[in-house]
Amino acid sequence: MLSRAGTMMPVSRSLLRTMGVRSIGDWANVPAAPLDPILGMSQRFQADTDPRKVNVSIGAYRTDEGKPLVLNCVKKAEKIILDNTTLNKEYLPQRGDVTYAALCQKMLFGEDSQLLKDGLVATAQTLSGTGALRLGAEFVKRYAPGTAVYISSPTWGTHNSIMDQAGVPYKPYQYWDKENRNLNLAGMLDDLKAAPDGSIIMLHAAAHNPTGVDPTKDQWDQIMEVCKAKGHVCWFDSAYQGFATGCLEKDAYALRKFAENGLPLFVSQSFAKNFGLYGERVGTFSLTCGSSDTVKSVMSQMDIIIRNLYSNPPKHGANIVKTVLSDPELYQEWRDELLAMSVRIQDMRKVLFDELIRLETPGSWKHVTDQIGMFSFTGLTPEQSKAMVEKHHIYMLGNGRVSMAGVTSGNVKYIAAAIDDVVRNV
Ligand SMILES: Cc1ncc(COP(=O)(O)O)c(C=O)c1O
Repeated sequence: MLSRAGTMMPVSRSLLRTMGVRSIGDWANVPAAPLDPILGMSQRFQADTDPRKVNVSIGAYRTDEGKPLVLNCVKKAEKIILDNTTLNKEYLPQRGDVTYAALCQKMLFGEDSQLLKDGLVATAQTLSGTGALRLGAEFVKRYAPGTAVYISSPTWGTHNSIMDQAGVPYKPYQYWDKENRNLNLAGMLDDLKAAPDGSIIMLHAAAHNPTGVDPTKDQWDQIMEVCKAKGHVCWFDSAYQGFATGCLEKDAYALRKFAENGLPLFVSQSFAKNFGLYGERVGTFSLTCGSSDTVKSVMSQMDIIIRNLYSNPPKHGANIVKTVLSDPELYQEWRDELLAMSVRIQDMRKVLFDELIRLETPGSWKHVTDQIGMFSFTGLTPEQSKAMVEKHHIYMLGNGRVSMAGVTSGNVKYIAAAIDDVVRNV
C-alpha cells in the first residue's frame, strides 16, 4: 500500500483479511482433515478417562496383561548390535542393506526358490509395509502408467489412499460375502476375469485385513489360474507372515505357489507385526523380473525413486531383523515367540466365542473362531460399532473390525457382554 508521500507502507495480515485478501503465509486456506479412521480411534482412546476402556482398533499385539511386547529375540539382537564396535551410523545406500534384503527374500520366497537361485528378484529395503506399498505405487506410476491396481473390497483402508495419493488408478474387486461372513470366491474370480489383461491385483498374502478370511489352498489355486490366464501381475501384501497360522511357511503358501508357477509378482513386506517392530519401520518391496540384467536396471531406478522420497532407509530395525534371521538360535527363538503370539490370539478367539454362546447372544458367532490373524470382522453394524465405542468405551472400527490382539483374559468378558448388549439393543 502506498503512503501519501508515495512510499510503501506495511500492510497487516488482519487488514488484508478484512479486505478479503488471503495471505498465503496464514495458511487459512488449509481445512482441518478428519481423523484417520484407525489412528484417530487410538487418539480418542487415549483421551477417554473411563477405567473400563479397551483399545481394539489398532493392529498392534498386546500381552495378556494388555501391554505392548518387545520380543526377547529382538532384545538379544539389540544387545549384539550395541556390542558390535564395527557398526557405525553412516548412511545406507538408497536400496538399503543388501544382506538384509537377501535374507528377507528367502523368508518370502523360501530357501529353495528357483527365482532366487536365478537372481530374478529385485528387492529394496523400505519404511515398513506402508513404505513398500508407496514405493511400489511410484514404480507402477512410472513403468506401468495407467494400469489399474485392483484392491479387495473391503481392505485395509490405506491401500486405496496410497494409490490415490500416488496418482495410480485403482479399482475394487469383490472379496467379502457379507451374508455368510466368508470369501465371495465367485465374485472375486468374476472381477479378476473382467479386469483388463495385465492388470495389477493386490492380494493379502495371509491374514486378510480386515476380514480375517483367507482363501483355502484350493481357492488360491483357482485365483492363480485366472491371474495366469489374464497375464495379471499379482501384488502380495505380506504384513502378517507367521501371524495367521503361527508358521512362516504356511503363511507364504500362496506367494510361493504363484512364484513357482511363473506369475509376475510384486511383494510388499512388513516386520511391524511379526517382529513387533512397529515404530522401527522395517520392510521390503520386491518384484520379479525376466532376467538378472533387468533386476539391475530395476534396482537402479528404485534407487532414484527412493533418493527423491527419503534418500535412504534407517538402519536399526533392519540390523535387528538381519541379526535374528542370520543366527540359527535367535531365528528359532523368534519362530517360537511368533507362534506364542498367534496362539494367544487364537485362544482369545475361543474364549470370546464361548462367552458369546454362554450369553446366548443372537446370531451365529462361528466366524470369530474361523477367522485368522490379528482381526475379527465381527459383523457388527456401523451403529452397533459406534455404540461399542460411545456406550461401552470399547474402541473398535466402524466397519465392525476388532483387533483380537488387544483382547485379553482381563477384558474378554467385558467385550462379550458389550457385544451382547449392542446386538440386542442397537
Ligand atoms: C494389510 C496391511 N498391509 C500393510 C500394512 C503396513 O503396516 P506397516 O506400515 O506398519 O508395516 C498393514 C498394517 O496394518 C496392513 O494391515
